[in-house]
Amino acid sequence: MQLDTLLINCGELLTMDHETTVVKGEQMNTVPLIKDGAIGWKDGIITFIGTSEQAKDLTSKKVIDCQGMLVTPGLVDPHTHLVFGGSREHEIALKQQGVPYLEILKQGGGIHSTVRATRNASFEELYEKAHFHLKRLLSYGITTLEAKSGYGLDKETELKQLHIVKELAKNTDMNIASTFLGAHAIPNEFKDYPNDFLQDMAGLFQEIKEQGLAEFVDIFCEEGVFTIEQSKTFLTLAKEAGFAVKIHADEIVSLGGTELAIELGAASADHLIAASDKAVEMFGSSETVAVLLPGTTFYLNKDSYAQARGIIDAGGSVALATDFNPGSSPTENIQFIMNLAMLKLKMTCEEIWNAVTVNAAKAIHKEDIAGKLTVGRRADVVVWNAPNYHYVPYHYGVNHIQSVYLNGREVAKGGAYLD
Ligand code: NIG
Ligand code: FE
Repeated sequence: MQLDTLLINCGELLTMDHETTVVKGEQMNTVPLIKDGAIGWKDGIITFIGTSEQAKDLTSKKVIDCQGMLVTPGLVDPHTHLVFGGSREHEIALKQQGVPYLEILKQGGGIHSTVRATRNASFEELYEKAHFHLKRLLSYGITTLEAKSGYGLDKETELKQLHIVKELAKNTDMNIASTFLGAHAIPNEFKDYPNDFLQDMAGLFQEIKEQGLAEFVDIFCEEGVFTIEQSKTFLTLAKEAGFAVKIHADEIVSLGGTELAIELGAASADHLIAASDKAVEMFGSSETVAVLLPGTTFYLNKDSYAQARGIIDAGGSVALATDFNPGSSPTENIQFIMNLAMLKLKMTCEEIWNAVTVNAAKAIHKEDIAGKLTVGRRADVVVWNAPNYHYVPYHYGVNHIQSVYLNGREVAKGGAYLD
C-alpha cells in the first residue's frame, strides 16, 4: 500500500500511547516515545508508526525527512472562550492601576464589556472572528479544543455563540468540544435576581441537548458571581439533562468550587489557584481532571499559581490550557503556557507534554480521538523545530512549529497558518 505522507528521522516521536486513557500522579512523569521514529498516513488515517529503520521499505507519495526534529500528536486545548465580540485593551489603564479583576467586573466592565460587544455583533462577524482565532490556535500546534459560550448571557446570544461553534466544527477539520457557559456572570438586567437568571439559563438545557449544541455545562463559581449553592443546583440540573459538567473553580477566592467539582464527578475543575489543600489532596482519588491555566495567573498579575505539584504528588491528573479569552488570558499561544508550567507550576517536561495531550483530551472527553498517535487514528501530527521535547517548555516566547498536519493535511508551516 502506498502512503500519502511519511515522516522519517523524527529525532523523538512522542506517541503518548500510554496504556491508560488518562495519566495520573507519578505516571505523568513518563512519555511514550520512539527514538529516530517514523510515522505515515493515508487518507488522513495513520497506518504506520515505528522507527525510521522499520519504515525503510515503505512507499509514499511524499517522504519528509524531519532531520532529527521532534514530532508529537496535535495538541489539545481543553479550555477556551473562543467566540466573543470586541476586545478589552481599553481596560489596560485600570489593570495597571491595580484595580482587581472582580472590581472591574462589578463596575460593569470586564465580562460585561465583552457581553455588550458580543450581543451587538452579527453571527457572521462573530463567526469570522472566531475562525481567525481558531486558525491562530492551530498555528501554535492545537488540533483539538474546547470552546465555551458565556458572552451572551441571554437566550438568543448564548444560542448564537453555540451555533457558531457548531458551524466551525462542521466547516473545519478541528476536533471541537462545545461547552454552554450561560452562567458566566450575572447580567445587569438580572443584577438582583441571580436565581431567576440561572433558571432562565437552565431553561435552555433541553434545546441545547436536542440540537446537539454542547456536551458540557460550566459555571463561574466565584465571589460576587455564583455561589457554591447556586453552582450545585445549576450543575445538578445540567447533569439531569444529560450534560457532563465543569467548573471555573477557586480562580480568585477560595470558595470550595474544586471540592464541588469533585463531588459532582465533573469532567474537569478549572483554574484552582485558590483551591484548598484538602481539595488538592482529593484529586488523588478522583477522575476529575485538574485543568490549570497559568496564563491567567500571569495576565492577572498574581503571585501565586495553582498547586500543580500538590495535585500530581497527591496522584491526580493535570491538564493545561490557554483559557484564551479577551480579559484574563488574551493569547492563543499554548507554547507559552507550557513555558509557564515549567517555570511557575514546577511541572517536569514529561508532565507538561501529558498535560497538553492525553490528559487534556480526557478533560473534554476526546480521549478516543485526540492526544495520542496510534495506527487507525486521524493524522493530527505536529513537527516541531526543536531537537527534543524538553526544548519547547524551555525556549519561550516564540512559535516552534515546523508543520501542523490536520487530518493528514499540512495546515500550518513555520508557525503560520496556510490559507
Ligand atoms: O476563565 N473567569 C471567568 N472567565 C474567564 C475570563 C473571562 C473574561 O474575563 O472575559 C476566565 O478567566
Ligand atoms: Fe475560562
